[in-house]
Amino acid sequence: MGGAGAMTARRLTLAAFLGLGGCAGVQSPLSPAGTQAGSIQSLFWLMMLVCGFMYLLVMAGLTVGVWRGWRKRSGVSAPEVRPGDQRPQRMLILWVGLMVGGLTALIVGSFLADRTIAAARRDAALEVRVTGHQWWWRIQYRDPATGGWIETANELHVPLGRTTRVTLGSADVVHSFWVPNVAQKLDMIPGRLNLLDLTPTRTGWFRGQCAEFCGAQHAHMAFDVKVEAPQDFERWLAAQARPVSAPSDAATARGQAVVTRGACAMCHAVRGTAATGRPGPDLTHFASRRSVAAGTLPMRRGAVQGWIAQPQALKPGAMMPPVPLSPADADAVSRYLMSLK
Ligand code: CUA
Repeated sequence: MGGAGAMTARRLTLAAFLGLGGCAGVQSPLSPAGTQAGSIQSLFWLMMLVCGFMYLLVMAGLTVGVWRGWRKRSGVSAPEVRPGDQRPQRMLILWVGLMVGGLTALIVGSFLADRTIAAARRDAALEVRVTGHQWWWRIQYRDPATGGWIETANELHVPLGRTTRVTLGSADVVHSFWVPNVAQKLDMIPGRLNLLDLTPTRTGWFRGQCAEFCGAQHAHMAFDVKVEAPQDFERWLAAQARPVSAPSDAATARGQAVVTRGACAMCHAVRGTAATGRPGPDLTHFASRRSVAAGTLPMRRGAVQGWIAQPQALKPGAMMPPVPLSPADADAVSRYLMSLK
């Protein structure tokens, strides 16, 4: 008996922790790290407050009604409403007043949140393009030096305190761009560009996730977001803009030959080499990212080698076909890819 009670208590504690754990962390709108997410969080709490208060009032009224009916049925005399009694009328006025006040608070709250989200559009400084693919993210930065585009995938870096304008598009079906800690979610629609501004207020790593069902691997369509100090961001962008340097040893040279002259180059680009494929993610600074296959695997050599050998086992339905390589070539390719920092 005591054991069962302790078990229940432990389960309740665990449930409470899991419930609260959802409020913090790297993928939560209740732990804002951006101006836009902050205003959405304020609106959320206002709605909770107003609607929670009204809910409690309705429940209290219902309880009183049931209690009175029960007393009447049990033959206990209940207070009757007599002609000329002003109380019901006053209660009605109070109730209407509360509803009008509550709804007005919600209207003002959502108007202000909307203004905050729209206000950023006037001072966006940095231009980034994000295109949804089944099932990964093409990310392009406008190069401040040349005006061209610097391409990467599945990892978005943004500077702290500056507004980044993200232009969202899709290459195939409808996806949805969502980094709950930083900003609202917005659909990515084929044949159309949507604009989303984000102004980060706290540095750190966050997780973005496709928020619109887009096929079998929708759940494996995630990306990492790093909010960093402006000077760190500039350094990162300058590194991303550089083409690859020459392989430093025989193994990576062999890997480069396989990647840039074989099947990989039909879909992937490695800037500075003969590989200029467009359908798949750009691999120029592949190993500078934290994950492989849009958040599916950690960036480790074993995971990379496994992914190349068996992409359809790890992410069934993905566009990446298995690439049959000799053991020596597979080893060289993974070494080469891990050297692309
Ligand atoms: Cu893309 Cu869900």
